[in-house]
Amino acid sequence: MKVLVLNGPNLNRLGIREPDIYGSETLEQLEKKLLIVGKSLEMEVVCYQSNHEGALLDQIHDAEFNGFSGIIMNPGAFTHYSIALRDGISSINLPVIEVHISNVHSREEFRKISVTAPVSIGQITGFGMYGYEMALNAMKKYIEGREGNGQVTKN
Ligand code: DQA
Repeated sequence: MKVLVLNGPNLNRLGIREPDIYGSETLEQLEKKLLIVGKSLEMEVVCYQSNHEGALLDQIHDAEFNGFSGIIMNPGAFTHYSIALRDGISSINLPVIEVHISNVHSREEFRKISVTAPVSIGQITGFGMYGYEMALNAMKKYIEGREGNGQVTKN
């Protein structure tokens, strides 16, 4: 099982950026940890970060062709307004789990809106970096369920 972890704009600045909100761990440290967690779950994890909407969109479009079974995505600020990413997610046949490090519902009003969550299978928000690990576990359960243990799934 191969899973793509996508991080959007400004997430390359983790560790430096507003550490009171996003913590002191860097993106590199997070990605290293996710590869290890993925291994323990018998999942191959591939990580990609971009500050550019189109580059993220290309990754979404190519994911199935590149052999991925699902996408875990923190779209950063694009969450709140990118109809292009939303439509991109809708256009593919892979499950997407949305992750936010901070609790977007306890912050500014504009962060409470996610245009991408309704086309994702679920959203994990407010558990810090651990949210990505939760998403890996959830993705594994979801995909395994879809492969035949009777769970109800979207895709
Ligand atoms: C974020 C929340 C977004 O509102 C913000 O624009 C980010 C990070 C999070 O992980 O908490 O860049 O997605």
